[in-house]
Amino acid sequence: MAIQRGFPRGRIIPSDDVIERHGFLKKLEDHLYYGDSIMLASPRRTGKSSVASEVMRRLSARGCYTLDMDLLHIVNIERFALQALEKVTQLRTGKLESMTHSLHDFLRWIAKPDLSIKMQDVEFGLRFHGDPKEMDPWNVLQEAFEMAERIAMKDDRRLVFLLDEFQEIDQLGGERLLRLLRSVFQRQENTTYLFSGSEPSMMKTIFADHRQAFYRFAAIWSLPEITPDEWQAYIAKKFTQFGMSAEDRAIELLIRATGGHPYCMMATLSIAFFDAKDSAMVLTRPIAEESLHQAFDQLDAVYENLWRRVSEISLGEEVLAALVEGNPPYRGNNPTAVQRAIDSLIKTSIIIRASRGRYRFVEPMFQRWIKYKIGGQLDLLDEFWI
Ligand SMILES: Nc1ncnc2c1ncn2[C@@H]1O[C@H](COP(=O)(O)OP(=O)(O)OP(=O)(O)O)[C@@H](O)[C@H]1O
Ligand SMILES: [Mg+2]
Repeated sequence: MAIQRGFPRGRIIPSDDVIERHGFLKKLEDHLYYGDSIMLASPRRTGKSSVASEVMRRLSARGCYTLDMDLLHIVNIERFALQALEKVTQLRTGKLESMTHSLHDFLRWIAKPDLSIKMQDVEFGLRFHGDPKEMDPWNVLQEAFEMAERIAMKDDRRLVFLLDEFQEIDQLGGERLLRLLRSVFQRQENTTYLFSGSEPSMMKTIFADHRQAFYRFAAIWSLPEITPDEWQAYIAKKFTQFGMSAEDRAIELLIRATGGHPYCMMATLSIAFFDAKDSAMVLTRPIAEESLHQAFDQLDAVYENLWRRVSEISLGEEVLAALVEGNPPYRGNNPTAVQRAIDSLIKTSIIIRASRGRYRFVEPMFQRWIKYKIGGQLDLLDEFWI
């Protein structure tokens, strides 16, 4: 019997649990397969990594080479260069037992006859012999990405490279790094890139600003939401799989209170699942309410933290207080200062622009939390008592 899994939370979720977002995953997969590089931009915890990982799995099943790197965990240009080189080499050598600590160690490892023979036809290492200056991390990085293309060409395969948390590139090497990558990437034919990043406004600057080297290199796509009917179908299917059921009005409440935000929804469902399992195998409306309260408890520390960040933004609290109540944020304040606060709140993934001059919370549960904790509303689920 296959292992049964509850509602997943984490960077990589099982294929069966990935909700298709009305054909978006298929479209993304196709574009990458046929050679378009794409920038996937959306606020924090809305599903970039899950979607990207699933698309990479599907591309791999279609015969593409796939590689991925998470730039959040890379501290400097040396580590970036070394990790890129290791990953690319592994397309030919198979997985390394453990990551090496320096380029020197790595070159010693790869020099073993059985490994170096696998790399011969792609001219690995020619750059690293002779002049020690060639070991400069910028050169190594360039070589790693160029070798990726040489391998893809020799093996006549499409290579799709995922660079997650791409906004970190700025910290790693700024303009110089962007220029280097762009000059390598734009000459490649068999390698396509999926960039994904969680500071939408920052990512848009990298890709859309004339002054930046990445201008026009990749199309910017925003991740569409999971719609209520998709959640409904997924939740119903999932409960049925466990021999359980879920009342429609319970599902409705969860969708409305979480606003369908992927992380919040999965976190709440995970609680609801265990509660329902322990009581007659049915997700009832009272269980949904109780699960939401528990989810708020779990999120409390996160939201306290977020609120602290808001208070560091000049006019941040005032603007959010207005938005929580559904009021326009500009009333009574200097418009330029308000706009600056709005930009900062977008950058920290707290709000997003819904349409011109209108904004909404990325996490409706945070909006609710503010109303309750700061605004003095008596019950977290107040509007839902019907
Ligand atoms: N397409 C999806 N189908 C089902 N669940 C999803 C989907 N996308 C996201 N989720 C849920 O949301 C959670 C958060 O998603 P993920 O970590 O991919 O977001 P992210 O945008 O990469 O976040 P971060 O900004 O923190 O890197 C997942 O663990 C999963 O529970
Ligand atoms: Mg992520």
